[in-house]
Amino acid sequence: MPTRPLDATAGRPKAPLPDEVTPLLGNRTPAQFMRRYWQKKPLLIRQAIPDIQAPLSRDELFELADLDDVESRLITHFRKTWALEHGPFATDELPSVKKREWTLLVQGANLHHDRAHDLMNRFRFIPDARLDDLMISYATDGGGVGPHFDSYDVFLLQVHGKRRWRIGAQRDLSLKPGVPLKVLQHFEPEEEWVLEPGDMLYLPPHIAHDGIAEGECMTCSIGFRAPSKQEITGQFLYHLAERSGDSDVPAAHYRDPKQPAVSRPAELPQLLLERVGAILANVTWHEKDVASFVGSYLSEPKANVVFDPPARPLTEQKFIERAKKSGLRLDRKTMLLYDKRSYFLNGEPELLEPKLRKWLPELANNRHLEAKRFVTLADDSTMTSLLHEWYRAGWIQVDAYA
Ligand code: SIN
Ligand code: CO
Repeated sequence: MPTRPLDATAGRPKAPLPDEVTPLLGNRTPAQFMRRYWQKKPLLIRQAIPDIQAPLSRDELFELADLDDVESRLITHFRKTWALEHGPFATDELPSVKKREWTLLVQGANLHHDRAHDLMNRFRFIPDARLDDLMISYATDGGGVGPHFDSYDVFLLQVHGKRRWRIGAQRDLSLKPGVPLKVLQHFEPEEEWVLEPGDMLYLPPHIAHDGIAEGECMTCSIGFRAPSKQEITGQFLYHLAERSGDSDVPAAHYRDPKQPAVSRPAELPQLLLERVGAILANVTWHEKDVASFVGSYLSEPKANVVFDPPARPLTEQKFIERAKKSGLRLDRKTMLLYDKRSYFLNGEPELLEPKLRKWLPELANNRHLEAKRFVTLADDSTMTSLLHEWYRAGWIQVDAYA
C-alpha cells in the first residue's frame, strides 16, 4: 500500500467564486458574466485557459468513440454532401486523419475521463442542475458540422489546433431540407474569429454559428440542459402519476354504472368524456411535488450511463480506514443535488435528515470530502454506513484521482 498523502482532489482546478475575477471569463467575475452575457449575448474570450492541453489525446478520443455506452457521431462533408453516422465506431471505421472535411463528436467525455471532468468543473459557477456535459469534437482540415444554431447555451473552448468561427444573430433559422443534420438554409455571419488553443467562445441559445477547422483541431463544448416546456410538462405528469401509485390503497379505476346500451358502439360516449375530464380536473400538486420532480428528473443519469461498482468491495471498516487517509469523492457519473427538504442521488429522492445536513451539502457542492473532514465526521455510523452503501453501488470513490 502506498503511504503518500492521497487527498483525492488536492490541486484540481476549481470553478471561480461568484465575485472572483478570472481569465476563464476574460478577467470578469462569474457574477458579471452571468449578468451581462449569460443567455443574452456572445462573448469571445482570448486565453480563457492559457497553456491548455486537450483533455484527451486523439487516440483516447477515438477509443471513447468505440464504446457502447458513449454517444458519438461522425459528420462528413465529402464532395459537398453532408452525411451523419452514429457510433460506436472502431478506429478503423473512421475516415483517415489525412482526409479533409470530417468531424467526430463525442458526448459526455466528462463521465469517462478525469481531465475532461475537471475541465467541466471549472464551469460550476453555473448550477449543476443546468450543466449538461462536455462534448469533444475532433476535425480534420475544413471539418465542421455546418452553420446551425443550438437551443442551449454553450462554451466552445479550443483545446488543440485552430478553428475559424463565424457567428450571426439572424432571425431566419430555417433549415436546409433533405440534409441529415441541422444546417441553416441562409447563414448570414456578422462576426468572425480564428480561435487558438485556450481561446473560448460563449454563445447563448439560437445564435447561428459555424466552426471550420484550420488544420487538424479539437474543440470542447461545455453544454447546458434546456428541456422544452413540453418535455418538462410531460415528465412532471409522468412523475406525478408514478408517485400517486405509491400508496397501499388500491388505485381507483374509471367507473360508469349509468352507461346505457348503445347502437353506435364506435362513438365515444359523452359520459366517458365528462368523467375523464373530471378525473383530470382533480389532478393537483404541491410545491413539494415540483421540488421532488425537479431534483429527481435533473439528477437522473442519462440512459446510457452505467456505474462500475467495485468488483471486490472493501468491508465497511476497511472503507472507513481508507477514506480517513484519502478522503472520498463522488464518481464522475454521479449527480447529487439537494434542496432544503431532500437530496437527490442519481434520480432517487431521499429525505435530507438533520444528521445528513452536516456533510451532504458539502459533499454535493465540492464533489469530495477531504480526509481530515472525513476523520471528524467518521464517528457518525449513519454517515459511514450510508457512504459505504454508495461506494458499493459505484456512486462514490475512495481512491485518489489517477
Ligand atoms: C463542433 O465542436 O464541431 C461543433 C460544436 C457546435 O457548433 O455546437
Ligand atoms: Co453548435
